[in-house]
Amino acid sequence: MKPDSTQQSAAGGFADAKSHWDQRFSRPGLLFGEQPNRFLVAQAPRLAPGSTVLSVADGEGRNALYLASLGHRVSAFDISPVAVAKARELAAQRGLQVDMRVASVDDWDWSAQRFDAVLGIFVQFADPAMRRRMFDGMWSALRPGGLLLLQGYTPRQLEFRTGGPGKLDHLYTSELLRELLPQAQWLELREHEDELAEGSAHVGHSALLDALARKPE
Ligand SMILES: C[S@@+](CC[C@H](N)C(=O)[O-])C[C@H]1O[C@@H](n2cnc3c(N)ncnc32)[C@H](O)[C@@H]1O
Repeated sequence: MKPDSTQQSAAGGFADAKSHWDQRFSRPGLLFGEQPNRFLVAQAPRLAPGSTVLSVADGEGRNALYLASLGHRVSAFDISPVAVAKARELAAQRGLQVDMRVASVDDWDWSAQRFDAVLGIFVQFADPAMRRRMFDGMWSALRPGGLLLLQGYTPRQLEFRTGGPGKLDHLYTSELLRELLPQAQWLELREHEDELAEGSAHVGHSALLDALARKPE
């Protein structure tokens, strides 16, 4: 972690975000369910055996643990110690190894390792300024040829209100992602509507954006 980042983040709302998410994750059960995200499951066969993967803001571990169960070498972090404790408990129950840390996207040392894949599933807590920093970090954490996999909500989700931040400037469009990642080779960039059933937090008809980008060699 960067040495001065905790202080810097505290000024930018670290404590609020942490307690907000800790409170949400303190209820019994898993807020986003036990099953991995469906877009991730559909794309996982693209990963070579034994890939190194970083899951950003992984929550209670459903996606990191799924990838670990496939034999990948997974690192993950989340701002909520409550979520990370639940993820570690699930990992122990299933006999899976995942390097799970408590960190904010602004604390994470994106330069520490180059990954074969980086995952950002519903990381729309980020306002435009934080999103810029996070996307720069995720891109720099990829090795050349590596894959960035994202799923998020589009502005249409404001009509459905079946999950997500409910703030227009946190939501994704294809144009926005093209602007944020101008060097990306897009393997998938698709806005669509679908039914979600992810725990108690993402439930019902939803406006989604699926994105898979390759970092040029
Ligand atoms: C919508 S949840 C998605 C969790 C997980 N990716 C999943 O799909 O199950 C958003 C996650 O972002 C985490 N989070 C919020 N702000 C964060 C920050 N600044 N840095 C890292 N994680 C953060 C929350 O604790 C929460 O686990």
